[in-house]
Amino acid sequence: MRPTNITRNIGGWLTEAEGHYLYETAKKVKKGNAIVEIGSWKGKSTICLGLGSRDGRGVKIVAIDPHTGNSEHRRRFGKVNTFAEFKRNIHKAGVSPYIESILDTSENASHTFYGRVGFIFIDGAHELKSVWSDWKLWFPKVIDNGIVAFHDTWHYPGPNFATAIILLTSHHVRHPRLVDTITCFEKVEKNFFLDRIQNTCFVLYRTLVGFWGAVKLSYSSRA
Ligand SMILES: C[S@@+](CC[C@H](N)C(=O)[O-])C[C@H]1O[C@@H](n2cnc3c(N)ncnc32)[C@H](O)[C@@H]1O
Repeated sequence: MRPTNITRNIGGWLTEAEGHYLYETAKKVKKGNAIVEIGSWKGKSTICLGLGSRDGRGVKIVAIDPHTGNSEHRRRFGKVNTFAEFKRNIHKAGVSPYIESILDTSENASHTFYGRVGFIFIDGAHELKSVWSDWKLWFPKVIDNGIVAFHDTWHYPGPNFATAIILLTSHHVRHPRLVDTITCFEKVEKNFFLDRIQNTCFVLYRTLVGFWGAVKLSYSSRA
């Protein structure tokens, strides 16, 4: 069964293609490494990762979230606490044994996490300062050939700018891809000149995708 059939009725913002990408990537993470998720909300993405791990090498998923929502959620919904619903959802999906949940901010959690990260999914607070801090604190823990994925990267300025800066300047990333709004890439010890050209072309391509996405959104919201 596709992971997104299991998560269909859980609130969140993940598209079907994104859920499937998380599942497939989690499935390939090798034993001895962890999968880290920053920002779990009600568990939609956590379950896709958990099902991937279950069908793959059974690696641990460290799901970090204070469960008090983003500033945007608090403006929309008032006081937020998603932890009980998160726990219920991961239990119902049968993935609890793979999930270690940390009820804290990614910044605090990074100071006490000493493992090796094979795959990290960054979907916490979306302000540029927070996304940049997630990147700076967690990238050193990712192994070479590990995968880094950011959510909401063509329509939210924070993840959009952060990933553009990384791809345009870092000598340690290559093979960027866009899966709906996820921008993902691989960590390497040192990338080649051709990798850097490809990274730059990707940022230009994504800017066009973002532009057309914004045009489509503005037309659909007028309808
Ligand atoms: C967009 S939601 C995550 C959605 C989830 N990944 C999904 O696909 O269903 C963002 C989450 O990030 C959490 N968050 C906010 N600030 C955070 C921080 N500093 N560290 C970790 N998580 C944070 C919020 O509590 C919220 O649940």
